[in-house]
Amino acid sequence: MNAASDISGHYADGGLLARLEVSLAEDGVDPENPTLEELAPYDHFHGRGLEATEDMANRLQVSAKDRILDIGSGLGGPARYMARRFGCRVAGIDLTAEFCEAARLLTGRVGLEDRVSFQQGDALTMPFKDAAFDGAYSMNVSMNIADKRAFYREVRRVLKPGGWLALSEVARGPGGEPDYPLPWARTAASSFLATPEATRTDLEASGFRIERLRDTSSEARDFAVRSRAIVEAGGKPPHRAVMLALGERAREAVANNGRASRDRCTVPIEIVCQKVRI
Ligand SMILES: C[S@@+](CC[C@H](N)C(=O)[O-])C[C@H]1O[C@@H](n2cnc3c(N)ncnc32)[C@H](O)[C@@H]1O
Repeated sequence: MNAASDISGHYADGGLLARLEVSLAEDGVDPENPTLEELAPYDHFHGRGLEATEDMANRLQVSAKDRILDIGSGLGGPARYMARRFGCRVAGIDLTAEFCEAARLLTGRVGLEDRVSFQQGDALTMPFKDAAFDGAYSMNVSMNIADKRAFYREVRRVLKPGGWLALSEVARGPGGEPDYPLPWARTAASSFLATPEATRTDLEASGFRIERLRDTSSEARDFAVRSRAIVEAGGKPPHRAVMLALGERAREAVANNGRASRDRCTVPIEIVCQKVRI
């Protein structure tokens, strides 16, 4: 198995849409006719879910005429959110074919297919022209990419001069190696965590100027406390994307992820940077 099929094999098992339809029906939602808000617990597949997408969007200036790229677009929740919030066009690209199919289907069901598109592909060799996008973002994807500089250079290629890049990532913390599986990898063989400092260095070396780089651990802790309170009160956790995507495999990955974050093996970071001349 090569690295790409190992990664998409981790994410996809063929059962995603069936699980989503069951979950939505349990929530009292018509799976054929959901709203963005009803999909949000399931389709923002990164730490803190919709809340992290909103935080990222709050830092960006996007206009309705902009064309934005979502790298590693998953089920498409962030892309649909950006298109709805800013009125912009969003192109998503993702390695996992099953996610792209689900993303297209859900986008059609919420009536955003004229502005949001998805295609299967690798972030390291994207099928887009140079300078095609005003801005790009990527949420919880670079952990699957070994050659970070090749990734950042490829993103830089498809951005217009001065274009922005926002990243919401899991970085390597000081606490040592995490246990696997984790939500993004079955084993250490497909997990490539970089420290916040190495991420900064790699971005700068690839032609980006960092405008903001923050450790968002305190937001993650607050979110975990609020989620626990909801569950203890008998509700569903507000963020269910890992359970949806990984099905039965999620339990162990979620438990390991909680320990990795508590022990600072991993730290969540948010970055906003800008393409500069090199
Ligand atoms: C944890 S999910 C995040 C999905 C989405 N960004 C979100 O936040 O909802 C990671 C995604 O990255 C994708 N991915 C991993 N490596 C990739 C690569 N080299 N090129 C494109 N997508 C990739 C996976 O297929 C998966 O959909």
